Amino acid sequence: MGFVIATVNMKGGVGKTTLTVNLATCLAKNHGKRVLVVDLDTQISATLSLMSPQDFAKVRKGRRTLSHLIDKSIRPNLQSKLTIQDVIQPYICSIKELDLLPGDIDLYDEYLVSEMLHQKANSEGKENFSDVWNHFEKLLIKGILEPVINNYDFIILDCAPGYNLLTRSGIVASDFYLLPARPEPLSVVGIQLLERRISRLKESHNSSTPLNLQLLGIVFILSGGLIGRYYNQVMKRVTEDFTPAQLFKNRIPMDVNVAKAVDSFMPVVLSTPTSSGAKAFTRLTVEFLQKVDAYQNMSQNRSTKVNLANLD
Ligand SMILES: Nc1ncnc2c1ncn2[C@@H]1O[C@H](COP(=O)(O)OP(=O)(O)O)[C@@H](O)[C@H]1O
Ligand SMILES: [Mg+2]
Repeated sequence: MGFVIATVNMKGGVGKTTLTVNLATCLAKNHGKRVLVVDLDTQISATLSLMSPQDFAKVRKGRRTLSHLIDKSIRPNLQSKLTIQDVIQPYICSIKELDLLPGDIDLYDEYLVSEMLHQKANSEGKENFSDVWNHFEKLLIKGILEPVINNYDFIILDCAPGYNLLTRSGIVASDFYLLPARPEPLSVVGIQLLERRISRLKESHNSSTPLNLQLLGIVFILSGGLIGRYYNQVMKRVTEDFTPAQLFKNRIPMDVNVAKAVDSFMPVVLSTPTSSGAKAFTRLTVEFLQKVDAYQNMSQNRSTKVNLANLD
Protein backbone atom coordinates (compact mmCIF):
# COMPACT_ATOMS: atom_id res chain seq x y z
CA MET A 1 0.00 0.00 0.00
CA GLY A 2 1.18 3.50 -0.83
CA PHE A 3 2.43 5.98 1.72
CA VAL A 4 0.57 9.24 2.06
CA ILE A 5 2.80 12.21 2.86
CA ALA A 6 1.62 15.73 3.74
CA THR A 7 3.87 18.72 3.09
CA VAL A 8 2.89 21.22 5.78
CA ASN A 9 3.84 24.46 7.43
CA MET A 10 1.36 27.03 8.73
CA LYS A 11 3.47 29.71 7.05
CA GLY A 12 3.16 30.51 3.36
CA GLY A 13 6.12 31.01 1.05
CA VAL A 14 8.45 28.64 2.91
CA GLY A 15 8.88 26.18 0.03
CA LYS A 16 6.13 23.57 0.59
CA THR A 17 5.02 23.45 -3.04
CA THR A 18 8.54 23.59 -4.43
CA LEU A 19 9.54 20.68 -2.22
CA THR A 20 6.39 18.69 -3.12
CA VAL A 21 6.78 18.94 -6.89
CA ASN A 22 10.55 18.38 -6.98
CA LEU A 23 10.46 15.44 -4.58
CA ALA A 24 7.56 13.86 -6.49
CA THR A 25 9.37 14.29 -9.81
CA CYS A 26 12.64 12.80 -8.50
CA LEU A 27 10.82 9.85 -6.92
CA ALA A 28 9.10 9.08 -10.23
CA LYS A 29 11.91 9.88 -12.66
CA ASN A 30 15.02 8.75 -10.81
CA HIS A 31 13.62 5.94 -8.69
CA GLY A 32 10.74 4.59 -10.79
CA LYS A 33 8.23 5.15 -7.95
CA ARG A 34 4.58 5.64 -8.84
CA VAL A 35 3.69 9.06 -7.46
CA LEU A 36 0.53 11.13 -7.19
CA VAL A 37 0.70 14.83 -6.28
CA VAL A 38 -2.51 16.16 -4.72
CA ASP A 39 -2.97 19.93 -4.68
CA LEU A 40 -4.93 20.89 -1.52
CA ASP A 41 -4.22 24.61 -1.81
CA THR A 42 -6.60 27.04 -3.52
CA GLN A 43 -3.53 28.96 -4.72
CA ILE A 44 -3.05 25.95 -7.07
CA SER A 45 0.73 26.45 -7.10
CA ALA A 46 1.48 22.72 -7.30
CA THR A 47 -0.93 22.35 -10.22
CA LEU A 48 0.57 25.29 -12.09
CA SER A 49 4.11 24.08 -11.37
CA LEU A 50 3.29 20.85 -13.21
CA MET A 51 0.92 21.93 -16.00
CA SER A 52 0.37 25.02 -18.10
CA PRO A 53 -2.50 27.43 -17.29
CA GLN A 54 -4.04 26.50 -20.67
CA ASP A 55 -4.09 22.80 -19.79
CA PHE A 56 -5.45 23.63 -16.35
CA ALA A 57 -8.25 25.71 -17.89
CA LYS A 58 -9.30 22.70 -19.99
CA VAL A 59 -9.20 20.37 -17.00
CA ARG A 60 -11.26 22.81 -14.93
CA LYS A 61 -13.83 23.24 -17.66
CA GLY A 62 -14.38 19.47 -17.59
CA ARG A 63 -14.77 19.67 -13.76
CA ARG A 64 -11.76 17.38 -13.43
CA THR A 65 -10.30 18.93 -10.29
CA LEU A 66 -10.27 18.08 -6.59
CA SER A 67 -13.18 20.48 -6.12
CA HIS A 68 -15.54 18.05 -7.82
CA LEU A 69 -14.48 15.15 -5.57
CA ILE A 70 -14.95 17.27 -2.45
CA ASP A 71 -18.36 18.33 -3.74
CA LYS A 72 -19.35 14.68 -4.07
CA SER A 73 -18.34 14.07 -0.43
CA ILE A 74 -20.28 17.08 0.82
CA ARG A 75 -23.36 16.44 -1.31
CA PRO A 76 -23.80 12.65 -1.56
CA ASN A 77 -26.91 13.15 -3.70
CA LEU A 78 -24.91 14.92 -6.39
CA GLN A 79 -25.47 13.18 -9.72
CA SER A 80 -22.01 12.65 -11.14
CA LYS A 81 -20.24 9.76 -12.75
CA LEU A 82 -16.80 11.37 -12.53
CA THR A 83 -14.51 9.31 -10.29
CA ILE A 84 -11.07 10.11 -8.89
CA GLN A 85 -9.59 8.04 -11.74
CA ASP A 86 -11.26 10.42 -14.23
CA VAL A 87 -9.91 13.46 -12.41
CA ILE A 88 -6.28 12.33 -12.05
CA GLN A 89 -4.05 13.60 -14.85
CA PRO A 90 -1.44 11.04 -15.96
CA TYR A 91 1.97 11.43 -17.60
CA ILE A 92 2.72 14.72 -15.87
CA CYS A 93 5.76 16.46 -17.41
CA SER A 94 5.88 13.42 -19.75
CA ILE A 95 6.89 11.16 -16.85
CA LYS A 96 5.05 7.84 -16.92
CA GLU A 97 5.04 7.34 -13.15
CA LEU A 98 3.97 10.89 -12.23
CA ASP A 99 0.28 11.77 -11.82
CA LEU A 100 -1.48 14.89 -10.57
CA LEU A 101 -4.80 15.42 -8.89
CA PRO A 102 -5.29 19.06 -9.87
CA GLY A 103 -6.44 21.58 -7.28
CA ASP A 104 -8.91 24.37 -7.78
CA ILE A 105 -9.30 28.04 -6.89
CA ASP A 106 -12.61 27.14 -5.21
CA LEU A 107 -12.39 23.93 -3.26
CA TYR A 108 -15.29 23.90 -0.85
CA ASP A 109 -17.87 26.13 0.73
CA GLU A 110 -17.42 26.22 4.51
CA TYR A 111 -21.05 27.18 5.01
CA LEU A 112 -22.23 24.14 3.02
CA VAL A 113 -19.98 21.84 5.02
CA SER A 114 -21.26 23.18 8.37
CA GLU A 115 -24.87 22.99 7.21
CA MET A 116 -24.47 19.41 5.99
CA LEU A 117 -22.80 18.33 9.22
CA HIS A 118 -25.43 20.05 11.39
CA GLN A 119 -28.18 18.26 9.46
CA LYS A 120 -26.33 14.99 9.85
CA ALA A 121 -25.87 15.51 13.60
CA ASN A 122 -29.60 16.30 14.00
CA SER A 123 -30.82 13.42 11.88
CA GLU A 124 -28.60 10.92 13.70
CA GLY A 125 -29.66 12.37 17.04
CA LYS A 126 -26.02 13.08 17.87
CA GLU A 127 -25.63 15.71 20.58
CA ASN A 128 -21.93 16.19 20.08
CA PHE A 129 -21.38 18.20 16.92
CA SER A 130 -17.58 17.99 17.27
CA ASP A 131 -17.75 14.17 16.98
CA VAL A 132 -19.62 14.50 13.69
CA TRP A 133 -17.14 17.12 12.50
CA ASN A 134 -14.10 15.01 13.51
CA HIS A 135 -15.51 11.98 11.73
CA PHE A 136 -16.05 13.97 8.53
CA GLU A 137 -12.58 15.55 8.78
CA LYS A 138 -10.96 12.17 9.31
CA LEU A 139 -12.60 10.59 6.29
CA LEU A 140 -12.78 13.42 3.73
CA ILE A 141 -9.33 13.19 2.11
CA LYS A 142 -8.84 9.55 3.12
CA GLY A 143 -12.15 8.65 1.45
CA ILE A 144 -11.30 10.55 -1.73
CA LEU A 145 -7.91 8.79 -2.05
CA GLU A 146 -9.08 5.32 -1.01
CA PRO A 147 -9.90 3.97 -4.53
CA VAL A 148 -6.39 4.74 -5.86
CA ILE A 149 -4.15 4.38 -2.83
CA ASN A 150 -2.82 0.99 -3.98
CA ASN A 151 -1.91 2.35 -7.41
CA TYR A 152 0.90 4.45 -5.95
CA ASP A 153 4.08 4.13 -3.93
CA PHE A 154 3.71 7.71 -2.70
CA ILE A 155 0.85 10.18 -2.60
CA ILE A 156 2.13 13.64 -1.69
CA LEU A 157 -0.35 16.24 -0.45
CA ASP A 158 0.61 19.87 -1.03
CA CYS A 159 -1.16 21.61 1.86
CA ALA A 160 -2.23 25.25 2.07
CA PRO A 161 -0.66 27.52 4.67
CA GLY A 162 -2.75 27.94 7.81
CA TYR A 163 -4.69 25.12 9.30
CA ASN A 164 -7.93 24.71 7.39
CA LEU A 165 -10.26 21.72 7.08
CA LEU A 166 -8.39 20.27 4.09
CA THR A 167 -4.98 20.60 5.74
CA ARG A 168 -6.26 18.84 8.87
CA SER A 169 -8.05 16.20 6.83
CA GLY A 170 -4.90 15.69 4.73
CA ILE A 171 -2.73 15.37 7.83
CA VAL A 172 -4.98 12.75 9.45
CA ALA A 173 -4.99 10.78 6.17
CA SER A 174 -1.18 10.73 6.11
CA ASP A 175 1.46 8.31 7.28
CA PHE A 176 4.14 11.00 7.39
CA TYR A 177 4.46 14.74 7.19
CA LEU A 178 7.30 16.81 5.80
CA LEU A 179 8.00 20.20 7.27
CA PRO A 180 9.88 22.62 5.00
CA ALA A 181 11.08 25.65 6.93
CA ARG A 182 13.23 28.69 6.52
CA PRO A 183 15.59 29.09 9.47
CA GLU A 184 14.04 32.35 10.68
CA PRO A 185 13.09 32.95 14.34
CA LEU A 186 9.35 33.17 13.54
CA SER A 187 9.50 30.06 11.47
CA VAL A 188 10.83 28.26 14.55
CA VAL A 189 7.72 29.40 16.42
CA GLY A 190 5.66 28.12 13.46
CA ILE A 191 7.26 24.68 13.74
CA GLN A 192 6.47 24.51 17.45
CA LEU A 193 2.88 25.66 16.90
CA LEU A 194 2.35 23.08 14.18
CA GLU A 195 3.81 20.31 16.32
CA ARG A 196 1.44 21.26 19.14
CA ARG A 197 -1.55 21.35 16.79
CA ILE A 198 -0.67 18.00 15.27
CA SER A 199 -0.39 16.33 18.66
CA ARG A 200 -3.80 17.81 19.58
CA LEU A 201 -5.19 16.58 16.26
CA LYS A 202 -3.86 13.10 17.04
CA GLU A 203 -5.59 13.20 20.46
CA SER A 204 -8.94 14.28 19.03
CA HIS A 205 -8.87 11.58 16.34
CA ASN A 206 -7.42 8.79 18.43
CA SER A 207 -10.64 7.51 19.94
CA SER A 208 -11.41 4.97 17.17
CA THR A 209 -8.24 3.90 15.33
CA PRO A 210 -4.99 5.50 16.46
CA LEU A 211 -3.20 7.70 13.94
CA ASN A 212 0.25 6.48 12.96
CA LEU A 213 1.29 9.88 11.74
CA GLN A 214 5.04 10.58 11.99
CA LEU A 215 7.19 13.61 11.29
CA LEU A 216 9.46 12.38 8.50
CA GLY A 217 11.64 15.42 8.84
CA ILE A 218 12.20 19.15 8.73
CA VAL A 219 13.72 20.37 5.45
CA PHE A 220 15.61 23.65 5.67
CA ILE A 221 15.37 26.01 2.72
CA LEU A 222 18.46 28.16 3.13
CA SER A 223 19.29 31.76 2.28
CA GLY A 224 22.60 33.04 1.07
CA GLY A 225 24.66 36.12 2.01
CA LEU A 226 24.85 37.93 5.34
CA ILE A 227 21.37 36.95 6.41
CA GLY A 228 22.37 33.36 5.75
CA ARG A 229 25.02 33.57 8.45
CA TYR A 230 22.45 34.78 10.99
CA TYR A 231 20.09 32.00 9.92
CA ASN A 232 22.79 29.48 10.74
CA GLN A 233 22.52 30.48 14.39
CA VAL A 234 18.73 30.06 14.30
CA MET A 235 19.10 26.70 12.61
CA LYS A 236 21.39 25.58 15.40
CA ARG A 237 18.61 26.38 17.90
CA VAL A 238 16.07 24.34 15.93
CA THR A 239 18.38 21.39 15.57
CA GLU A 240 18.78 21.34 19.37
CA ASP A 241 15.00 20.98 19.78
CA PHE A 242 14.73 17.94 17.50
CA THR A 243 16.46 14.59 17.23
CA PRO A 244 18.83 14.15 14.24
CA ALA A 245 16.32 11.65 12.78
CA GLN A 246 13.71 14.42 12.63
CA LEU A 247 15.91 16.66 10.46
CA PHE A 248 16.94 16.17 6.86
CA LYS A 249 20.72 16.38 6.50
CA ASN A 250 20.31 17.69 2.96
CA ARG A 251 19.27 21.32 2.80
CA ILE A 252 17.94 23.28 -0.16
CA PRO A 253 19.94 26.36 -1.17
CA MET A 254 18.34 29.49 -2.59
CA ASP A 255 18.75 29.22 -6.34
CA VAL A 256 17.15 31.48 -8.92
CA ASN A 257 16.67 28.48 -11.23
CA VAL A 258 14.23 27.03 -8.70
CA ALA A 259 12.02 30.13 -8.90
CA LYS A 260 12.42 30.42 -12.70
CA ALA A 261 11.34 26.82 -13.28
CA VAL A 262 7.70 27.77 -12.65
CA ASP A 263 7.74 29.70 -15.95
CA SER A 264 8.34 26.48 -17.83
CA PHE A 265 5.55 24.60 -15.95
CA MET A 266 7.98 22.00 -14.69
CA PRO A 267 10.08 21.55 -11.54
CA VAL A 268 13.71 22.68 -11.50
CA VAL A 269 14.91 19.06 -11.43
CA LEU A 270 13.59 18.84 -15.01
CA SER A 271 14.12 22.39 -16.30
CA THR A 272 17.71 22.85 -15.02
CA PRO A 273 18.90 19.50 -13.65
CA THR A 274 22.49 20.65 -13.20
CA SER A 275 21.64 23.67 -11.02
CA SER A 276 22.52 23.67 -7.32
CA GLY A 277 18.83 23.66 -6.37
CA ALA A 278 18.04 20.67 -8.59
CA LYS A 279 21.03 18.72 -7.28
CA ALA A 280 19.93 19.41 -3.69
CA PHE A 281 16.41 18.06 -4.39
CA THR A 282 17.92 15.00 -6.07
CA ARG A 283 20.05 14.24 -3.01
CA LEU A 284 17.19 15.00 -0.64
CA THR A 285 15.03 12.42 -2.46
CA VAL A 286 17.61 9.70 -1.77
CA GLU A 287 17.58 10.67 1.91
CA PHE A 288 13.76 10.71 1.87
CA LEU A 289 13.70 7.09 0.66
CA GLN A 290 16.24 6.08 3.32
CA LYS A 291 14.08 7.65 6.02
CA VAL A 292 10.92 5.91 4.82
CA ASP A 293 12.84 2.60 4.70
CA ALA A 294 14.12 3.14 8.22
CA TYR A 295 10.54 3.66 9.51
CA GLN A 296 9.35 0.61 7.61
CA ASN A 297 12.11 -1.56 9.12
CA MET A 298 11.36 -0.19 12.55
CA SER A 299 7.65 -1.02 12.32
CA GLN A 300 8.40 -4.47 10.85
CA ASN A 301 10.75 -5.21 13.76
CA ARG A 302 8.07 -4.02 16.13
CA SER A 303 5.42 -6.31 14.61
CA THR A 304 7.86 -9.27 14.60
CA LYS A 305 8.39 -8.63 18.30
CA VAL A 306 4.65 -8.50 18.85
CA ASN A 307 4.20 -11.76 16.90
CA LEU A 308 6.98 -13.45 18.85
CA ALA A 309 5.38 -12.20 22.05
CA ASN A 310 2.13 -13.86 20.93
CA LEU A 311 3.98 -17.18 20.58
CA ASP A 312 5.09 -17.16 24.21
N1 LIG B 1 15.27 26.98 -3.09
C1 LIG B 1 14.65 28.01 -3.64
N2 LIG B 1 15.36 28.93 -4.35
C2 LIG B 1 14.75 30.00 -4.92
N3 LIG B 1 13.44 30.24 -4.84
C3 LIG B 1 12.68 29.36 -4.15
C4 LIG B 1 13.23 28.20 -3.52
N4 LIG B 1 12.23 27.52 -2.91
C5 LIG B 1 11.10 28.21 -3.16
N5 LIG B 1 11.36 29.31 -3.89
C6 LIG B 1 10.40 30.32 -4.36
O1 LIG B 1 9.77 30.87 -3.20
C7 LIG B 1 8.39 31.10 -3.46
C8 LIG B 1 7.55 30.35 -2.43
O2 LIG B 1 7.78 28.97 -2.55
P1 LIG B 1 6.60 27.92 -2.47
O3 LIG B 1 7.19 26.57 -2.67
O4 LIG B 1 5.47 28.32 -3.37
O5 LIG B 1 6.17 28.10 -0.93
P2 LIG B 1 4.82 27.62 -0.17
O6 LIG B 1 4.26 26.47 -0.92
O7 LIG B 1 5.31 27.25 1.19
O8 LIG B 1 3.91 28.81 -0.13
C9 LIG B 1 8.13 30.64 -4.87
O9 LIG B 1 8.17 31.76 -5.72
C10 LIG B 1 9.27 29.70 -5.17
O10 LIG B 1 9.60 29.66 -6.54
MG1 LIG C 1 2.30 26.26 -1.68
